[in-house]
Amino acid sequence: MPRHYYITTFGCQMNKADSERMAGVLEAMGLEPVAEPDDADVLLYNTCTIRDNAEQKLYSYLGRQAKRKHQDPNLTLIVAGCLAQQEGEQLLRRVPEVDLVMGPQYANRLGELLEQVWQGQQVVATDPLHIVEDITKPRRDSTVTAWVNVIYGCNERCTYCVVPAVRGQEQSRRPEAIRAEIEELAAQGYKEVTLLGQNIDAYGRDLPGITPEGRRQHTFTDLLYYIHDVPGIERIRFATSHPRYFTERLIRACAELPKVCKHFHIPFQSGDNEILKAMARGYTRERYLQLIETIRRYMPDAAISADAIVGFPGETEEQFQRTLDLVAEVGFDQLNTAAYSPRPNTPAATWENQVPEEIKEDRLQRLNHLVAAIAKERSQRYLGREEVVLVEGVNPKDSQQVYGRTDGNRLTYLPGDIETLRGQLVRVRIIEARAFSLSGVPLAEHSLVGS
Ligand code: SAH
Ligand code: SF4
Ligand code: F3S
Repeated sequence: MPRHYYITTFGCQMNKADSERMAGVLEAMGLEPVAEPDDADVLLYNTCTIRDNAEQKLYSYLGRQAKRKHQDPNLTLIVAGCLAQQEGEQLLRRVPEVDLVMGPQYANRLGELLEQVWQGQQVVATDPLHIVEDITKPRRDSTVTAWVNVIYGCNERCTYCVVPAVRGQEQSRRPEAIRAEIEELAAQGYKEVTLLGQNIDAYGRDLPGITPEGRRQHTFTDLLYYIHDVPGIERIRFATSHPRYFTERLIRACAELPKVCKHFHIPFQSGDNEILKAMARGYTRERYLQLIETIRRYMPDAAISADAIVGFPGETEEQFQRTLDLVAEVGFDQLNTAAYSPRPNTPAATWENQVPEEIKEDRLQRLNHLVAAIAKERSQRYLGREEVVLVEGVNPKDSQQVYGRTDGNRLTYLPGDIETLRGQLVRVRIIEARAFSLSGVPLAEHSLVGS
């Protein structure tokens, strides 16, 4: 019977949350985590396929462990997540040492699948599945902040994106189940939850129910009102928002509910209307700017972050320039940027007007340069200000310091002892502002908020 497991996680928050659930399953089966992959007899790779480089990385890791399996036949190799879903059986043909290939919808069922493996089968689990309500107890990495899935899958069809193909149809969890999970987190001492969905604003559209006014009964806004007052939870975050579905009603709810952090992650992808149309995003640059304006009207200091893609098929220099000026106009606190990467089974990958790699790289660099300059400038507004930091851990580079995040999601360092500060909301004065992080000092009196 295997004893020790190690999980390597690639990709987004969704995968991190799935890995925590799968770790929970393994621990319920009596396995223990180890610090080094080479010491494990169950190795799980939770994979991502959003861009080609994520895929390449997996194969290089996997190759090494597949060799180890020749010396140690008891090693169990699992490939889970989005690349596993995409490749299915083909993955076994490419790396026959793998024991189990399982798509993201099977995370909660890892236990049953492993039983089959240990009876001597090679298993591929990628058929679409109704995700069972969370009976598993995740083994969470943090004791302060926790992910809470609210909707799985994605029904959008952005022409560059593999997510709908690998994560499947939208499946919303029942509000009662979500609230119960948050209540349990609060009872365990968690202070912050991040509600997760690929397109979180789609929450509830697959659940039945119409209000007497003829409105859909279950929307993300309703969910926020329903869960916001769980005692003990001090902060609520959510991601990812789709510009098309971000309503004024939701903005009002965020402004009104004190525990909802004033940070919004709203990818725009491109600043050019033709490119947006080719991406099938369903909104225009003007509509996006209007959304940001409305958010700032309700919450002038809201932090805004986003994702953008450069070098989408057909993108001209002029169209790229429109992405640059959108970035300058909005003034993002943070922006995740990527060069377009053609993905299997997506429409854009088959188009002939692909942009050459050198041009994509050049645009990516120019965009990143602008992003860093703007983030640095945006950071300055924090200097001298009082902020409240929820302390999460020790600064890995300086054991005298702890780190946490401000309401606006800025990583912030402050002097202090983790044993007394972990999970505390600390009032600090910001004394240093870098592009993507801050340093602060605790305010002498009443620095612990609410105690
Ligand atoms: N659901 C979210 C994004 C999920 S994927 C949304 O709708 O915005 C995370 C990010 O990866 C995307 O926002 C996009 O910027 C990037 N991305 C997705 N597919 C990509 C591709 N084929 N090439 C490059 N970047 C991609
Ligand atoms: Fe992909 Fe678009 Fe769905 Fe986001 S909304 S996950 S980019 S298809
Ligand atoms: Fe990657 Fe899957 Fe997330 S493809 S970005 S891990 S949804």
